[in-house]
Amino acid sequence: MKTRVVKVDQVDPDIGVLKEASGVIKNGGTVVFPTETVYGLGANAYSAEACSKIFKAKNRPEDNPLIVHVANRRQLLDCTSEQDPEVMRALDSIWPGPLTVLMKRSSRIPDNVTAGLDTVAVRMPANPLALKLIEMSGVPIAAPSANIATRPSIVDSADAIAELDGLVDMILDAGPTFFGIESTIINTMKKPVELLRPGAFDHADLEPYFDNIVVSDVARGISASEIAITPGMKYRHYSPDRELYILSDAGLIKSFPTGAVGEKAMLIMSSEKFEGLSVDGISLGSEENLYEIARNLFTAFRKLERTPKAFGLIQSFPERGVGLAIMNRIRKASSGTINSKEELEALLHSG
Ligand code: TXA
Ligand code: MG
Repeated sequence: MKTRVVKVDQVDPDIGVLKEASGVIKNGGTVVFPTETVYGLGANAYSAEACSKIFKAKNRPEDNPLIVHVANRRQLLDCTSEQDPEVMRALDSIWPGPLTVLMKRSSRIPDNVTAGLDTVAVRMPANPLALKLIEMSGVPIAAPSANIATRPSIVDSADAIAELDGLVDMILDAGPTFFGIESTIINTMKKPVELLRPGAFDHADLEPYFDNIVVSDVARGISASEIAITPGMKYRHYSPDRELYILSDAGLIKSFPTGAVGEKAMLIMSSEKFEGLSVDGISLGSEENLYEIARNLFTAFRKLERTPKAFGLIQSFPERGVGLAIMNRIRKASSGTINSKEELEALLHSG
């Protein structure tokens, strides 16, 4: 397939580019576009045939449903069959923004979009280009994260082009996304409201609108059970093509001579943790700003793949605020946690 790659500004998009991209959506094609969280791989949410191309392009299992992106209230009403007035009031204040809600689906949403479930995941993205694209297409756009299934999400158009050229009809080349981590998903049909996937909006952002939000272990990524509350959770996720291990305490590396760790492992840590160490690695930015860490996370996973090191070692972060989403992605991308000097020693001498 020939892919059209077109440069465009995500804040002040060129009308000609929008016309072309919305034309692709109207004709049942696929467009990779930026949202404020990560890049999405979109198609007409009302067309089963168009949406089947999404699953094919990213090799996504058919039992993993898609998020439907809307640009206005009219489209939300068209996609859903029941609306809780309290939730609608909350969404009036929160949207556009990185919050996805589950609602009862309407008959306009085809089966393959929701993987046969009677609910649909909906969100209104806070990105001018995405909103205008949806508006001009005249239909909601179903879009999972644009990465090939199991791979880290795409937060920069350069990675979108590298991964998807030849697999989609059009890629909007619009540079880096704002948050760099996916939207928060909640189930508002449950009382108290349940957090299904932590994301760019944290507890404090949502608390004013929803009394009491329950964070499930599944959302933290530490559930021992394989019960899939949200279908996508049972699959391998966000994973670089290289083993990644979590350091329960970044101080563990100091019990080895300088260089002994860096020879085999690529360290992925905050700038603070690198201070005073004479090893190179991938800096995630300052711990003082967890949004900066979140924004650099998927890019760091992709950088790890391009290094000659045997595996990656990543520090853990406090699970407060957006740190909950950061640790959820790190846990899912990693093969395990290193808890002691002995475990680290064994890892460094393996293979
Ligand atoms: O920020 C985001 O949410 C990005 C941008 C592109 O909007 N999208 C995204 O989509 O992260 P995706 O497909 O990578 O993740 C969507 C998650 C999956 O885990 C899926 O199983 C879940 O949402 N999901 C979708 N519809 C659902 C439904 N009806 N019930 C439960 N979970 C659902
Ligand atoms: Mg995804």
